[in-house]
Amino acid sequence: MRQILVAGNWKLNGSLDSIKTLVSGITAGEGDAGNTRIAVCPPFVYIPLVAELLAGSKVAWGSQDISDQDTGAFTGEVAGAMLGEFGCTYAIVGHSERRSLYAEDDDFTARKFAAARRTGLTPILCVGESLGEREQGVTEQVVARQLDAVIALEGIGAIGECVLAYEPVWAIGTGKTASPQQAQDVHAFIRGKLAGLDQAVADKVQILYGGSVKGANAAELFAMPDIDGGLIGGASLDAGEFLAICKAGG
Ligand code: PGA
Repeated sequence: MRQILVAGNWKLNGSLDSIKTLVSGITAGEGDAGNTRIAVCPPFVYIPLVAELLAGSKVAWGSQDISDQDTGAFTGEVAGAMLGEFGCTYAIVGHSERRSLYAEDDDFTARKFAAARRTGLTPILCVGESLGEREQGVTEQVVARQLDAVIALEGIGAIGECVLAYEPVWAIGTGKTASPQQAQDVHAFIRGKLAGLDQAVADKVQILYGGSVKGANAAELFAMPDIDGGLIGGASLDAGEFLAICKAGG
């Protein structure tokens, strides 16, 4: 039985005040989340604050991105070792906003995935198709291509030590959630593809669903056999809503 993970991706949101309020709301209710593993991914600059606020809590934290480089003349970048110094457990890589708005391709994403692993972080690797790709019927090819770039660089074993997130781009921030069955179909495809390479990796890897998950729809998504939690954007900015999602996994 894989543990449910609910990870909040705060994106470009928050301030010192709002983050203090959000974290105290989450820690006040984390006890009701049963066995669900909870994580939050703040903007880089707030990670030290969040690390301090979460000391003693069971909520983990991570980054929304990571440099593919470890050190040197790379203006604006943040390395995995730096994130590790502030207690990060996870690093999101390949989020569709990075891929589409910042032109990060499959190979670059794979190098970021490798950087996370070599600095002791667990990558949360995002994959997913756009609306146009779904309408053309190429969802599986797109997701397979995104996974293959990482497997080619890091090997199938590395997938067993990361978290995957299936996030259909058309469902992110749009209020349009994939139906539990639509999401399950892609999750089952991903697990099946991995099983063809290594059954143990396929059985072990947590595959999260992301895209307009809320308290009201989380339970039916998490009840699907291949959905092992959620990557939550908008709803992770509200402690009550985020905790309702966490509870749905518990
Ligand atoms: P959303 O974002 O929950 O706001 O749709 C999900 C994500 O981008 O991870």
